[in-house]
Amino acid sequence: MQKSTILIVDDESNNIKLLREILKDKYETRVALNGEEAIVRVLLQPMPELILLDIMLPDMDGFEVCKKLKANPQTAAIPVIFITAMTGMDDETHGFEVGAVDYIQKPVSGPITLARIATHIAMANQKRDCEKNVELKTRELFANQKAGIFMLAEAGHYNDTETGVHIWRMSSYSRALAQALDWPVAQAEMLELAAPMHDTGKIGIPDSILKAPRKLTDDEWVIMKQHTTIGYSILSQGHTPIYNMAADIALNHHEKWNGTGYPNGKIGEDIPLSARIIAIADVFDALTMSRPYKKSWSVDQAFDLIRKESGAHFDPTLVDRFLSIENEICQIKDEWKDDKINRK
Ligand SMILES: [Fe+2]
Ligand SMILES: [Fe+2]
Repeated sequence: MQKSTILIVDDESNNIKLLREILKDKYETRVALNGEEAIVRVLLQPMPELILLDIMLPDMDGFEVCKKLKANPQTAAIPVIFITAMTGMDDETHGFEVGAVDYIQKPVSGPITLARIATHIAMANQKRDCEKNVELKTRELFANQKAGIFMLAEAGHYNDTETGVHIWRMSSYSRALAQALDWPVAQAEMLELAAPMHDTGKIGIPDSILKAPRKLTDDEWVIMKQHTTIGYSILSQGHTPIYNMAADIALNHHEKWNGTGYPNGKIGEDIPLSARIIAIADVFDALTMSRPYKKSWSVDQAFDLIRKESGAHFDPTLVDRFLSIENEICQIKDEWKDDKINRK
């Protein structure tokens, strides 16, 4: 097995010689004679697994060197042990403050030096493994959550005449609008993931109504409208921020700003903002896509309708923002032109 490398930063040849002698059986050593050199030589490959740092150096002191190493993401995780003749408490405190993990006092003892080095390398490795593991698990968790979302979204449209692409494209429009409203990126991305589930409740609507090739009767409309409350009751069982948002959207995406929507006839800001955003994105996409029974509207026609419905169907502030990002909306529409399902 290849030996780990230790970087010795010291300007006195006797100290260097002594440390090299102590380390030679177990470690490769690399030497830097001053602070500047340490900062450069630490980056050589293979990077050292630990740094032994003298405090008194000719150019800058060891504290300064340590601070610089900790400020660089490439070198921040390498444990630094100060080797010093200084014994003042203040110095020790300062050393720990700038990120050192330990002190070894001169004259150095071989066994203590080796034991401390081994401990700190093991701890650093453990920390690295732990962080890698957390990252991996987080990614896995996110992938699982996304998979669940995709399945729920597809389930909602399984018997629908809408193409699958609709839900993904309207989600991109929703994210763009949320960002134009200065939502934080993470929140806008959450909306993008929650949006495809807006019609999950359609899974509970009979085919004869969902696929009716004609206008629905009043009684059928009563049933059709239930896709909002069915969606809510399914998604609110998720009990996580994203499913809570999706449940809110499912329940409220057919509400209208002027109170004439369904299922509850909510008015204005009583309708959750996420659902008000979705409402615009959903209608815009429904208008601009072709369906078996209708030709698609042009982008201009669709924008005109959104403008006309400002203050009626839609929140006027959101309409203004949506119209202000027309270019971005057209760009997203273009990206989806070939009906490809782009599941990022
Ligand atoms: Fe719907
Ligand atoms: Fe929709």
